[in-house]
Amino acid sequence: MNTNVKSELLKRMSAGKDHPVSGQQLAEEYGVSRTAIWKYVKELESEGYEIGSIRKRGYYLIDSPDTILPAAVQQFLQTKQYGRTIRHIESCPSTQMLAHEEAQNGAPDGMVIIADEQTAGKGRLSRPWSSAAGKGIWMSVITRPELTPQQAPQMTLVAAVAIVRAIEELTEVTPTIKWPNDILAGGRKLTGILTELQADPDRVKAIILGIGMNVNQQSQDFPEEIRAIATSLSIEEGQPVNRAKLTAKVLDYLELYVALYVDKGFTPIKLLWESYADSIGKRVRISTLQDTYEATARGISEDGRLEVVLDDGTVRGIYSADIHI
Ligand code: BTN
Repeated sequence: MNTNVKSELLKRMSAGKDHPVSGQQLAEEYGVSRTAIWKYVKELESEGYEIGSIRKRGYYLIDSPDTILPAAVQQFLQTKQYGRTIRHIESCPSTQMLAHEEAQNGAPDGMVIIADEQTAGKGRLSRPWSSAAGKGIWMSVITRPELTPQQAPQMTLVAAVAIVRAIEELTEVTPTIKWPNDILAGGRKLTGILTELQADPDRVKAIILGIGMNVNQQSQDFPEEIRAIATSLSIEEGQPVNRAKLTAKVLDYLELYVALYVDKGFTPIKLLWESYADSIGKRVRISTLQDTYEATARGISEDGRLEVVLDDGTVRGIYSADIHI
């Protein structure tokens, strides 16, 4: 099935009743039959879209379901590469696992694996990631930037900046970033990022960005043990948020900022990241596998480490830890 035609049909039908899409015209433009267009309309209806039609003039959209099917996301995309290939799955253990397989089998740069539900979603440090059905954005983006393996951890920060920019653009929520991979609203976790790598010793083959965004959950949708520390965009916003539009916006910014990082280095990303960081200049408690101590967060280094100033004035760069403000 041609998702290009289908997403274009959706995009054009959004112009409403006064500007219906002519099936004949679309068929001609894309070199397909009118019956093919009619089939796409029927397919969209079976996915929950409500579509009106005016005799001799064409089709228009009355109402859209909250789906993250490829055409639903792609109608909003402005990217060249990212999200142009999407594999959607109703339910799977974890999109990360599937993305690793796809990457090994030659998936193109920017391919997205997105699921409505994950039954074994995984977070950083092998923690579980709650991925309620139909409520969030659970996706893994396969990227193939020209980077060395040493530059890969910074991709988490690149993704974080892309996500906060997308949230800011589409909602009234003011997100902050907590190093290294948490996006918060009102101090509670909204989004997590899990960055995994496939590499040769000197060359990145693929960086898989696992992005988990809490979008339309209500408090009772979270497992009890995280209810006090998790939030969703709809809780913060007071109304549901369109997951397809948000997915596309995240991919738009992700493509933009990955290119910026590859072309200009980490400095522009670092500046953006620091402008959203919730801990800079603040006293933080740092827990590593070895110990727990307090220090003042100063910023991030050129290689993405969190820099903190200890009480004796020494500066330490942290690779991996849990930070509490
Ligand atoms: C974290 O904050 O610990 C990272 C959470 C990452 C969750 C996402 S959801 C999509 C992808 N698939 C997974 O199993 N994990 C990531």
